[in-house]
Amino acid sequence: MKNKVSIVGAGMTGSTTAHWLAELEIADLVLVDIVEGMPQGKALDLQAAMPIIGKDVRIVGSNDYGATAGSDIIVITAGLPRKPGMSRDDLLVANAEIVRTATEQTIKHSPDVIYIVLTNPLDVMAYLTMKVARIEPHRVIGQAGILDSARMRAFVAMELDVSVENIHCYVLGGHGDDMVPLTHASNVAGIPLDEIMPPDRLDAIVERTRKGGGEIVSLLKKGSAYYAPSVAVTQMVEAILKDKHLIVPAAAFMRGEYGLQDIFFGAPVQLGREGVEKIYEYKLTESEKAALEKSARGVAENAAKLDI
Ligand code: APR
Repeated sequence: MKNKVSIVGAGMTGSTTAHWLAELEIADLVLVDIVEGMPQGKALDLQAAMPIIGKDVRIVGSNDYGATAGSDIIVITAGLPRKPGMSRDDLLVANAEIVRTATEQTIKHSPDVIYIVLTNPLDVMAYLTMKVARIEPHRVIGQAGILDSARMRAFVAMELDVSVENIHCYVLGGHGDDMVPLTHASNVAGIPLDEIMPPDRLDAIVERTRKGGGEIVSLLKKGSAYYAPSVAVTQMVEAILKDKHLIVPAAAFMRGEYGLQDIFFGAPVQLGREGVEKIYEYKLTESEKAALEKSARGVAENAAKLDI
């Protein structure tokens, strides 16, 4: 197989990403982690699953970043997950050190790589990755928007008892409680959400979407969500490797879009073989604009706390 995808951090999100990706049979996979033996063990286990599902994918586990050499895509999901009561921002300093190391140690082995960053707070971590790797902004994308939008789609589907395939939701902004679910652009078979649902039900879904990650953290008590985050990464990897020009909500580097500069922020992003091809802009209402500005201030304040 020609393509190579390396996943740094073989914990819940990283190993589940490998699982989804292996099923697609679109790349050989490398899992890297600092815990000795763990990525090797998970890789071997997943490798043994391949004959059963009939996929010719090579999966290697390692504690050595050298194993990532020549990767087309590197997924960074190494770091600490949230504990109940913690915000994603509480992870900032600890995860910044981990992401800095992961970037320094991988870019030298894969100078042409595209990074997909999941480690939270991911808008800032994506920015850090771009700066540490010293690469063009289009080669770094943060995963959050697909996940947040999918949560909203799932909640709408449950509420209306309609197929998830008919439901299209768009969530913009930073991946935090200030994210901005768009209630008019989001729709059920073309009918805007704010027309198909009573305001109180829609407000409840918006609120549940914003707190969707926290709801799972409270239930799990240990660790955070990983099924939906990892399949969101998988969709991004597939869009890039297949050069699909797929538009997904994701965190990209802003150069004037939505009036924002010099931050990574969630927006509709077109993905192809070179990474980010284009960022699309919605016509927003005044209240959506204000909400987006508030979210952007939060991301910029976090970035300022780090020495990037
Ligand atoms: N290099 C490689 N791996 C590392 C490093 C490092 N410097 N530091 C930590 N790790 C590994 C841990 O050993 C662990 O296996 O990162 C992995 C993280 O896995 P989990 O603890 O299971 O956490 P997970 O749920 O996968 O979340 C990881 O992704 O979604 C985000 O908020 C989440 O920031 C968190 C990250």
